[in-house]
Amino acid sequence: MKLLHLDSSALGANSVSRELSAAIVASWQARHPGLEVEYRDLDSEPLPHLTGASLAKADPAAVADAERVLEQFLAADVVVIGAPMYNFSIPSTLKAWIDRIAVAGRTFRYTANGPEGLAGGRKVIIASARGGLYAGSPADFQEPFLRQVFTFIGVEDLVFVRAEGVSLSPEHRARAVADALAQIDGVVEPVAEAA
Ligand SMILES: Cc1cc2nc3c(=O)[nH]c(=O)nc-3n(C[C@H](O)[C@H](O)[C@H](O)COP(=O)(O)O)c2cc1C
Repeated sequence: MKLLHLDSSALGANSVSRELSAAIVASWQARHPGLEVEYRDLDSEPLPHLTGASLAKADPAAVADAERVLEQFLAADVVVIGAPMYNFSIPSTLKAWIDRIAVAGRTFRYTANGPEGLAGGRKVIIASARGGLYAGSPADFQEPFLRQVFTFIGVEDLVFVRAEGVSLSPEHRARAVADALAQIDGVVEPVAEAA
């Protein structure tokens, strides 16, 4: 089983989403001893923006890099993504990664009946952190955006582990992180029983 672990927070060791994503991956590793984990820090190792040149496949080295990113995603059975809310949405570094995995003909296609996702059959876990409180708020362009992207490409098994209100006070932050950490066991699947 392969797990791809991504982080995108710019806050380094003070990041809530990094703490949550690391705890989720550690929990998967504890339950699946043979788990192969690949990690990419999209903050320290960012991907280039999608541009006209990249769409035109002008640079063979850039094309090869983009293909590796897409193949790394397609090879993963489980994808754990640290996704902070920045300016009501996601960090641009995470958006740059999404621009590399949402690829027509590879992870989705258009048919006469509408779009069809091609990247199902994997679990995606989002470790979400946000400063304010957004339940039911129209200002939330982070989680609904991620839900739309992954649903569009065919991922049905999508779960959010969320700490919100972390900027309201140290007490809010501590409680939100503890609550999120307590959810983790519920999103980590046990090893399948031998037939
Ligand atoms: C650049 C930046 C933009 C932010 N924008 C928002 C925002 O729009 N709404 C919000 O509730 N919190 C916002 N915050 C607070 C973060 O969501 C909060 O600090 C959260 O913990 C970020 O996740 P991280 O700790 O993993 O980086 C922002 C923080 C930063 C650094």
